[in-house]
Formats: sequence, structure tokens, C-alpha cells
Amino acid sequence: MDFGVILAGGKGKRMKANRPKPLFEVLGRPMLEWVIRACEQAEVKDLCIIKGFCGEQIDAYLNGRYTTVLQAEQKGTGHAVQQAEAFLSADTNGHTLVLCGDAPFMDAETIRLAREQHIADGNAVTVITASIANPTGYGRILRTEAGIAGIVEEKDATAEQKAICEINSGAYWFKTGALLEALKALGCENAAGEYYLTDTVAILLGKGEKAGAYCTENTDVILGANSQRDLLELNTLARMREIDKHLDNGVVFTCTDGITIEPDVQIGAGTEILPGTILRDGTVIGEGCTIGPNCLIEKCNIEDGVRLNYVQAYQSTIEKNVKIGPFVHIRPNSHIKQGVKIGDFVEIKNSTIGEGTAVAHLTYVGDSDVGKKVNFGCGTVTVNYDGIIKSRCVIGDNCFIGCNTNLVAPVKLGKYVYTAAGTTVTKDVPDYSLAIDRGAMTVKEGYSLRKFSSKIEYKDKK
Ligand code: UD1
Ligand code: CA
Repeated sequence: MDFGVILAGGKGKRMKANRPKPLFEVLGRPMLEWVIRACEQAEVKDLCIIKGFCGEQIDAYLNGRYTTVLQAEQKGTGHAVQQAEAFLSADTNGHTLVLCGDAPFMDAETIRLAREQHIADGNAVTVITASIANPTGYGRILRTEAGIAGIVEEKDATAEQKAICEINSGAYWFKTGALLEALKALGCENAAGEYYLTDTVAILLGKGEKAGAYCTENTDVILGANSQRDLLELNTLARMREIDKHLDNGVVFTCTDGITIEPDVQIGAGTEILPGTILRDGTVIGEGCTIGPNCLIEKCNIEDGVRLNYVQAYQSTIEKNVKIGPFVHIRPNSHIKQGVKIGDFVEIKNSTIGEGTAVAHLTYVGDSDVGKKVNFGCGTVTVNYDGIIKSRCVIGDNCFIGCNTNLVAPVKLGKYVYTAAGTTVTKDVPDYSLAIDRGAMTVKEGYSLRKFSSKIEYKDKK
């Protein structure tokens, strides 16, 4: 059986935060999650995550998805893997993949190819390595004629060793039994005073076992974040990689400023994404849309020809040729049907808006079922909450809702209903009716003259 051990216990001192480093996000997804998904895609599904610094946050994030083991004190990567001894002892005949929780671009292909080589060569350990121009900070791969001889950390390296450009990615395949044996032999006589997992290579070679290196061409897989600056670099790289993918699919970008597209987003050809737009995981956008500037879209299904301008939309469906914005909030579970127009300062929540309806400005529609071709006057409010329960409004086709109408839910308007401006509707209105709720208007002439006589200037008086 294949096991995976993901190291996520380190303090990540240089991040300067009370959060485990692997929970910092790249494109909206914790680095740990990237690593977990790479394992799952590579069919390594028996995972053990080593938590330490702020470990309860790792548990809260994983919510029971995988086994976690606490490394109470952070004494190094070797010490971290030692904590998985009981987990690994369940099957000592298989193989174990060890990965760093702070290197999000490790991918399934690299994991699989390294495993193939590991098995074919009969290695006790296979280190995933890469040759890079600037190896500073990484462990260096020591080699002799016979092959890999060990790994030396930057802190312990001689000037000559520091010049080596083949580095340790921090990812390895081990024979599980051999790993458990090697862990027992680890010491901490080095510059950091830590138990280095990297020492297992020399230990296993010393026992007459075989060690090898899988040197990957895809040098992104080694990239890790040790500081906020590194994290920003990883995000920048991932962001441009994602945009590149959409360019290949015919998505239009004339300027990429502030555009972040998370990994699991689909966008149709000919759709243009404008600056300042964030598209979160699980969003699907059709063809020929214009999204932005400054939209935030999460888990929405947006059909062809939609125009969103300064819109935040969450977990909703927006059908063909809808036009929304600017300054609109579409809250979860809304369904905006074909050809709807929604203008500035409108909020829609948990509602269906029928085909061709217009909600032009300053309106709140919550918990409502709105028919086709309805016109909302400015300042309409569905009064959906009485402090204890939320109720629904039903508005029939072709209604004309006057400005500043309050619709006190639960209430139902039939079709072709008019409401007079300023009306508070508290009971159902049948088809083809007008609802009007106003006192008779009276005019008190000379009122301000009498009330403010001392303040009204002489010239304004008659
Ligand atoms: C490690 C490797 C180095 C490699 C580099 C690749 C060692 C000794 N060095 O160095 O050869 O080039 O990764 O990025 O292994 N962790 C724990 N518990 C600890 C210490 C660390 O769980 O006590 C975890 C961290 O959370 C992190 C991972 O192990 O996810 C790597 O630790 P880090 O301190 O970043 O190691 P590097 O110095 O980068
Ligand atoms: Ca690291």
C-alpha cells in the first residue's frame, strides 16, 4: 500500500503569523490543499498530515478528511516524519511519499514518474530533485560516481557544496520499512540542531540500500514559500499560469491588472475579463460575456452574453444576455433569468427574477419569486424579515411596482398589478389591480412663513 506523509508542522517563522504556513493560500486555496490534491490525483490516498505550530487550525481546516498527527515540538523534518511511525507501521511492505505542505506546485505527474523510477530501480529512497540557476536556501544533492551520496543543507554546506545546482525538492518516495529503520538512526548534530529527514539518504546508503534521484524538468514543483514575499511570488506565478490557460481557450484580456482566476473556473471563448475581477473556484462563464471591471464571482453559473460591471455574485445562476451593474450584490441562491436588467445599488437574495424584468436602481429583492417583464421602481423593498422568520413575496408577470413600494412578506401580487409610489403592501393583490396606500394629501399654505418667519430673509417675503 502507498502512504503519503505531508509535513505541515513547522513554525514558518519568517511568515510572521499565527497561522501554519501550509494554510496560507495560493489562488484562494491553502498550499496544503494543493499538495493533498496532487496526492489524490496521483492515487496516493492514505494520507497522514503532520501538524505542529497552531495545529488546531490544520484540524479545523481538514475537518476529519485525513489523519493528522501532532508534532508537539518542531525539531525538524526528520522528527516530523518520526511522528507518523504508528501510521506507517500499518503496512511496512509498501511505499511512502513524503511531501512538504509549503510547496503547492508539486504535481501528480511528477509524483507518478518518480514512483515509477523508484520501483524500477528498486530504491529504498528516491529524492525528487531539480537543477536550478539559484539554489540558495535549498538542500544540495551530493553525488559520487556511484550516484547520489547524500543531501547537505545550506546551513551546513561548504562553499564548494553551495555551488551545486541540483537541489532537494523536499519530496521523496521511500520503501516504508526502510524509512522506519532510517528514522531510528537520525541524529541532530548539525548547524540547526534539528533531526533532518534529508539524512535518511546517507543512512540508507550506509546500510547498503539503494538511493536514487528523480530529477524533474518541471522546476515549478520545487517552489515553496518560506516568507510572505515567496508566497506573493507563488501567487503571481500561479495567477499568470491560470490566465495563460484561458488565453489558449480564446478568453480576452486586454489588461490583467488585479485579475485573479482560481484553478477550477471555466470561461467560454470570446468572453472578456476586465481588470480588478476575481473569479473564485466553481464558477462557470459562457461565451461572449463581459465580466468586470471589479467583479467578484463565486460558484456562479453564468450563461452566454452576460454583462457584469462592478458586481459581487455568489452561488447563483445568471441566464443569457442579462445585464447587471454597477454596484450590485447578488447573494446566494438567486436565479436571474434571460434578458433581465439590474442597475445600480440593487441587492438580490434567494430570489428568482423572471425573464425580461428590470430592477433599475436602489432596490432590495429578498426571498421572492418575481415573474416576467416586471418593472421595479426606484427604492422598492421586499420586507422579508419580521425579526424572527423570513417570508416570501410573489410578484406576478408584467407587474409595475411604483417607486418606494414596501412589499411586506408574505404577500402575493397577481399579474399586471400596479402599486402606487410609496405604497406599503400588506395584503395580497389580485390580477390587474392597483394597490394604493396613501392618506389624502393636504396643502397648508404659508406654513414655513409662519414657522420660520424670523429666519426667512425679508427679500424672500412677499
Ligand atoms: C527542506 C529540506 C531541504 C529542501 C527544502 C525544500 C530538510 C532538513 N531540508 O528545507 O533540503 O531543499 O525543504 O523546500 O528537510 N516541518 C515540520 N516540522 C518541523 C520542521 C518542518 O512539519 O519540525 C515542515 C514544514 O511545515 C514544511 C516542511 O516541513 O512544510 C519543510 O520545512 P522547512 O523548514 O520549510 O524546510 P526547509 O528549510 O525549506
Ligand atoms: Ca521550505
